[in-house]
Amino acid sequence: MIRLIQLDGVTQMLDSKQIQKWMQLFAKEIATNKEYLSDLDDAIGDGDHGNNMDRGMIAVIENLEEKNPTEIADSFKVIAMALMTKVGGASGPLYGTAFLEMAKAAQNSEDLAELIAAGTAGIAKRGGASAADKTMLDVWIPTSEVLKNGQLTAEKVDSFVESTKDMQGKKGRSSYLGERSIGHIDPGAASSGMLFKTLIEVTK
Ligand SMILES: Nc1ncnc2c1ncn2[C@@H]1O[C@H](COP(=O)(O)OP(=O)(O)O)[C@@H](O)[C@H]1O
Ligand SMILES: [Mg+2]
Repeated sequence: MIRLIQLDGVTQMLDSKQIQKWMQLFAKEIATNKEYLSDLDDAIGDGDHGNNMDRGMIAVIENLEEKNPTEIADSFKVIAMALMTKVGGASGPLYGTAFLEMAKAAQNSEDLAELIAAGTAGIAKRGGASAADKTMLDVWIPTSEVLKNGQLTAEKVDSFVESTKDMQGKKGRSSYLGERSIGHIDPGAASSGMLFKTLIEVTK
C-alpha cells in the first residue's frame, strides 16, 4: 500500500489494484489523445509521441493483467519494463526510468510524493535536463513539489503543462528548433499531465 495526501487533507491508501486502475485510465487517455500528442510532437519534434505512448500503454496493460502483481514495487517494475521496451524514442527510456526508480523507492517508502520525487530525479539523471528546458520534467518537478504538501489539483497539472508553451527547448528534438520551439506545448509534458490527472481521478 502507498499513501497519498490529498488536497482536502484526506489520506488515500493505494494498493496494486488501484495502480492497475490508474494505468487503465492513463492508457485510455493516451489512446483518446493519441493524435493530439503526435500533433504536438509534429510541431517541435518528429510527430510520433502519441503512437509511442499508445504502443507502450497497450503493453503496460497487457503485462499488468498477465503478471497481476500484488506488491506496489512489482507493479511499478512491470510498468517500467513495458514502457522501456515498447515506447521507444527518447520518452520510453525516460518514463521507464521514472517507474523503475519509483519501484526502488517503494521498497523503503509508502509515501507516493516521495516515490514521484524519486521518479523525477531518475528522469533528470537519465536525460540530463533541468527545469524550464521544455520537457516532461517541467510537469514532473512541480507535481512532485505540490504532492508533498497534498496540494495537487487537475488545474495545477494543466498549468504545468501549459507553462511549457513559452519555454525554449533545451533538450531533445525541440532544442534543434531554437527559438522556433517557443509557442508550442511540449508533447512529453502533455502526456505526463495526463499521467498525473488520471492519478487524481483514481483517488476520487
Ligand atoms: N533529455 C530529456 N529529458 C527529459 N525529457 C526529454 C528529454 N528528451 C526528450 N524528452 C521528452 O520526450 C518527449 C519526446 O518523446 P518522443 O516523441 O516519444 O521521443 P523522440 O523525441 O525520440 O521522438 C519530449 O516532448 C520531452 O518531453
Ligand atoms: Mg517524437
